[in-house]
Amino acid sequence: MGKWVRVASVEEILPRQPFLVAMEDDDIALYWINGEYYATDDLCSHAEASLVEGDLEGYTIHCPRHGGQFDVRTGEARHFPAYAPIRTFPVKQEGRDIFIEID
Ligand code: FES
Repeated sequence: MGKWVRVASVEEILPRQPFLVAMEDDDIALYWINGEYYATDDLCSHAEASLVEGDLEGYTIHCPRHGGQFDVRTGEARHFPAYAPIRTFPVKQEGRDIFIEID
């Protein structure tokens, strides 16, 4: 079981605008889509571009480097050249704070 880490306040997160969460190890991308929060690895599994610099379309983040795509709900790779999934993380909101569960 992981630990919950506060990563942002709700005021910092804009709809459909990926938000970078700087972590000690791997950075995390946070998304707010249709009133729900989702979190994934920030680094693309193909060649480590930062996904928060990509475009979000629905629940799909488009990698800015080679156009790989991932479903932010599951981490599943959806488009070549990305084929390996990225990790996803549980997210919860308490009051005006957003927490991510880290391993
Ligand atoms: S670095 Fe993301 S698709 Fe290549």
